[in-house]
Amino acid sequence: MKIAISGKGGVGKTTLSALMARELSEQGKRVLAIDADPNGNLAEAVGYDAGRLGRIEPLIEKKALVEERTGAKPGSMGGYFVLNPRVDDLIERFSVEINGMRLMVTGELKEALGGCYCPENALLRSFLRHLMVESEDWVVLDMEAGFEHLTRGTAESVSILLVVVEPGLRAMKTAEKITSLAKQLHIQQVGFIVNKVHSEGQIRRISERLGTESIWAVIPFDFLAVEADLSGSSPFEACPAMLETVRELIEKLDKAQVSG
Ligand SMILES: Nc1ncnc2c1ncn2[C@@H]1O[C@H](COP(=O)(O)OP(=O)(O)OP(=O)(O)O)[C@@H](O)[C@H]1O
Ligand SMILES: [Mg+2]
Repeated sequence: MKIAISGKGGVGKTTLSALMARELSEQGKRVLAIDADPNGNLAEAVGYDAGRLGRIEPLIEKKALVEERTGAKPGSMGGYFVLNPRVDDLIERFSVEINGMRLMVTGELKEALGGCYCPENALLRSFLRHLMVESEDWVVLDMEAGFEHLTRGTAESVSILLVVVEPGLRAMKTAEKITSLAKQLHIQQVGFIVNKVHSEGQIRRISERLGTESIWAVIPFDFLAVEADLSGSSPFEACPAMLETVRELIEKLDKAQVSG
């Protein structure tokens, strides 16, 4: 199953991604967690000790690799480079093993300066296509709100896109934008996760706007999540109530036989 997680900034994408990846891995599945956010901290959220082990260099920043695989210097545009570079060995070489899963930090695509056909982007897009289309692993992809990472072919292989929403108009508007983009890209299924909820009234107002049937889980506001983030600990250990909701969500995904 390939799960992509998106939503407005700060709504809880990384927290949810970390909880899902850790729980799936705990259940014995082969999990590959992908941090595709430039300011991402999914590694820490799944339990990687960056203070002790150092920052994980994102794939997009590996200049020698980009050049070796695409035949062009990173940053170069125009000119010739391989659009479908070899990527099948990258997980083996560059992922980090944490708490029974593999984690890859990809970073985000380079700005579309004069077109996004630069070698770094070709490598990253190829890599994501490989993961989504060919890999047998469970993939949990922590994304920013835009979808530049996903080409149409890659997006079609996403089993479900979970859009995280918090109570607030901006989060709902972003969720609606993401949903319409997802449709254009032919993503098979989109579900909303309502996070940081304080009251029934908030759930009702969000359901009225986004539709009750598309809400896959509701996660109450949890001070333990804030504490976990402050101390840099994994919500998997620190937030038992949130974890319980995520377990139910995974069961629901299984029952719904979200394909992939
Ligand atoms: N249910 C919750 N209750 C309270 N706080 C929460 C909850 N879920 C997440 N948070 C907190 O909200 C903050 C943002 O969460 P997180 O980093 O997961 O969001 P994000 O969407 O990945 O943000 P960004 O867009 O910056 O990547 C963190 O401090 C996190 O601990
Ligand atoms: Mg994040």
